[in-house]
Amino acid sequence: MKIPTAAGFVTLMLFCLVHAEICPLSCICKPLGEMKGWLVDCSSKGLKEVPALSVSTRKLYLQNNSMTTVRTGAFDNLHNLEEVNVSDNPWNCDCDILYLKLWLEDFSESSIANVICATPASNERKPLSQLSGNELDSCRKSLPIKCLGFFWRDLALITFVVLVLILTLCALRFSKKLAYQVTTRDNYSAVPLLRKHNLENDMSQ
Ligand SMILES: *[C@@H]1O[C@H](CO)[C@@H](O)[C@H](O)[C@H]1NC(C)=O
Ligand SMILES: *[C@@H]1O[C@H](CO)[C@@H](O)[C@H](O)[C@H]1NC(C)=O
Repeated sequence: MKIPTAAGFVTLMLFCLVHAEICPLSCICKPLGEMKGWLVDCSSKGLKEVPALSVSTRKLYLQNNSMTTVRTGAFDNLHNLEEVNVSDNPWNCDCDILYLKLWLEDFSESSIANVICATPASNERKPLSQLSGNELDSCRKSLPIKCLGFFWRDLALITFVVLVLILTLCALRFSKKLAYQVTTRDNYSAVPLLRKHNLENDMSQ
């Protein structure tokens, strides 16, 4: 009687360990069969953010929570995901929602279909799928800063190229001058030699 109880206890411990690793706190998780991953139901739990999720998550229900945004990269490790539902959350559709929008669009058409913005007022009740970068508040503001960054980088690049050009021209002129000096110096030494030669010729004639 003792041994089966111990074995049962160990099995239960193991199950709890595996379960804890796969199932976020306050969610309900069900295995979907051998090596088929897990159904992770975190719907209607008043969650304010996406919980830590296991790579074996295959179906993920996050609908009807209080999430306003998704941290960039939060879904990136879910390589086995087949189904996700993030509808009925008060999404704050500013620039930070861009990760969720692009990730859902990439994942499937149906996953973004029921995702509606709650804030800011300008995007209230608008479907996330229909928002463009321009309508996402603060994306607009952050764009010129990025442009300014490009401007300074380009300016630095152009200055560098111009400097290299000027230096090359200077080097060219300097080497020409040097060559000229060498040739003129050769001429100087050549002239007396020629003269000497001519003189010798004249004398011999
Ligand atoms: C949504 O969640 C709340 C609790 O956060 C619950 O009372 C309500 O019944 C849920 N609605 C649906 C449609 O599941
Ligand atoms: C997500 O869940 C909501 C509420 O349960 C449901 O109406 C909707 O059809 C689901 N969406 C997807 C893509 O499964």
